[in-house]
Amino acid sequence: MGREVVLYLTLLSLLGHPFVSTAPIQNRLQSVLVPTFGKFWHISDLHLDPTYHITDDHTKVCFSSKGYPASDPGLFGDFMCDSPYKLIQSAFQFMRELEPLPDFIIWTGDSPPHVPAEKLSTDLVIHIITNMTYTIREFFPDLPVYPALGNHDYWPQDQFPIATNEIYLAVAKLWEPWLKSEALTTLRKGGYYSQVIGPSLRLVSLNTNLYYSPNKVTVNMTDPAGQFEWLVDTLENCRQSDEKAYVIAHVPIGYLPYATGTTAIREAHNERLVEIFRIYSDVVAGHFYGHTHRDSIMVLLDHTGQPVNSLFVTPAITPIKHVEEPYSNNPGLRMYLYDPQDYSLLDIWQYYMNLTEANMEEKPGWKLEYKMTEDFNIKDIQPQSLYELAVSFGIPQSKTFHKYFTHFMVSYNETIVCEGSCQMTQVCSVLFLDHKSYFNCIEKWIESMKTLF
Ligand SMILES: *[C@@H]1O[C@H](CO)[C@@H](O)[C@H](O)[C@H]1NC(C)=O
Ligand SMILES: *[C@@H]1O[C@H](CO)[C@@H](O)[C@H](O)[C@H]1NC(C)=O
Ligand SMILES: *[C@@H]1O[C@H](CO)[C@@H](O)[C@H](O)[C@H]1NC(C)=O
Ligand SMILES: *[C@@H]1O[C@H](CO)[C@@H](O)[C@H](O)[C@H]1NC(C)=O
Ligand SMILES: [Zn+2]
Ligand SMILES: [Zn+2]
Repeated sequence: MGREVVLYLTLLSLLGHPFVSTAPIQNRLQSVLVPTFGKFWHISDLHLDPTYHITDDHTKVCFSSKGYPASDPGLFGDFMCDSPYKLIQSAFQFMRELEPLPDFIIWTGDSPPHVPAEKLSTDLVIHIITNMTYTIREFFPDLPVYPALGNHDYWPQDQFPIATNEIYLAVAKLWEPWLKSEALTTLRKGGYYSQVIGPSLRLVSLNTNLYYSPNKVTVNMTDPAGQFEWLVDTLENCRQSDEKAYVIAHVPIGYLPYATGTTAIREAHNERLVEIFRIYSDVVAGHFYGHTHRDSIMVLLDHTGQPVNSLFVTPAITPIKHVEEPYSNNPGLRMYLYDPQDYSLLDIWQYYMNLTEANMEEKPGWKLEYKMTEDFNIKDIQPQSLYELAVSFGIPQSKTFHKYFTHFMVSYNETIVCEGSCQMTQVCSVLFLDHKSYFNCIEKWIESMKTLF
C-alpha cells in the first residue's frame, strides 16, 4: 500500500466511517424550488498601514515591514507590508460594484498595522478604527455592518481588558449606527454583543481576544468578562425562541492549520468553547472567523463523530507575511450565500486580487478565485458536505487537497506543495477541534507513517 493510502485509511478509521461518498448531489443553488438566496459579505484583517509609500529605499516603504526590505512595492501594496489605503479602497469599490445591496456585511477585525507597540497608542488605534469605520460607511452608507474586535484593535495589542475602557467605549460610539442599545451595552462592558439581524436570526459577535494566549490580563481566568456565561445564556435563549445564530469572532477556535499542536486561543478556553458549540450546534447555523489571514475550513464533530457545524476562516485583505514565512496570501474577501428559510449556508464566492498583477498593471483587478460548491463539486457548505470534503483531503495524491491548500494561500503560488507533516497538520485541524481528538489524529497519522518504513 502506498503511504497516502495508509494515511487515508487511518483518517477514515479515526472517524469511524467505513467509506465516504464524494458524489455530487443536485446543487441547491440551481434548484428551481429555491430561486432566491440571501447574501452577505465577509471582510477581515484590513490592517491599514498609513506609512506605506513607494520609495527607492525598500526598507522605508512601510513601518510594518519592520526594517526588512519590501519585496516588490507597487500601488496596491507589497507582500512584506500591511495594506496601503488604496488597496482597502479598491476592495470596497469592488464589493460595491459587484453587490451593492447584500443583506449585511460582517467584519472580523484587525484594523491597525503590525508595528511595535511604541509606534501606536490608544489614540492612534482608535483613529485607525475610526478611519476604517468611516471608509466602510462611505461605500455602504445604508447597510448594516456587524463587526468583531481583533487582537490588534487594542493598545497595547492583545491586552484586552475584562471591563469597560476607552477602546470599548470608542467602538460602541463608532458602531452606533449599526447596533442596537442592548448590543452596545455589552460591547462597552466586554467587547462582545448579540443582535437580532433578521427574522429568527441572531448574530453573536464574540471577543475571543479575551482567550488569546498573548493576553496577559486574562491568564488563569475561567470566564473573562463573563463571556462564556453570557454566550450560553444567549444561545439558550435562541433555542427557546427558535432563533438561529451566526457566530462571528476574530481569533478562531480549534487548532492552527499551519502549526502542529497549537490552538489559536488558549487550550483551556478552547475546550470550553468547543463544548458550548457542541451543545448548541442545533442553534448555530455558521461560524465566521479571521485572524490567521489564510483561507480555511473546520468541521465541528459531536462526541459520536457526526459533523454538526461548519466553520469558516476568511483570508485577510492585508497581504503581509513575516520575513521567515515561505508564503503569504493575496488580498481576499468573500460573499456567503444562504437559504433565507433556515439560514443554512449554501456557498462561498471567494474573490481576490492578484497583487503582483495589480501592481504591474496599476489596476486593482479584483476577481473571482473560486465558488466553493463548483470548485469542490459539493452540493452546499453544510457540515455533512464539508466533512466528506475534508475526509477526501486524505485521498492518495489528493488534487482536492492541493486545491484547498492553494486557496489557503489565496492563490499566492500554485507550485507550493503541502505534504507530510504539513498535510497532517492541515487535515487534523480541519476535523478535530478539541485536544483529545486532535492529538489522537496526529498520533495515529505519525504511527501510520512509521509502519511504512
Ligand atoms: C483614512 O486614512 C487615509 C490615509 O491613510 C486617508 O487618505 C483617508 O482620507 C482617511 N479616510 C477617512 C474616511 O478618514
Ligand atoms: C497561573 O496559574 C499558574 C499555575 O497555577 C501559576 O503558576 C501562575 O503564576 C498563574 N499566573 C497568574 C498571572 O496568575
Ligand atoms: C498573478 O499574476 C502573476 C503576474 O502576472 C502571474 O505570474 C501569476 O500566475 C498570477 N497568479 C494567478 C493565480 O493567476
Ligand atoms: C513559487 O514556489 C516555487 C516552489 O516553492 C518557487 O520555486 C517559486 O520561486 C515561487 N514563485 C514565486 C513567484 O514566488
Ligand atoms: Zn490580522
Ligand atoms: Zn489577529
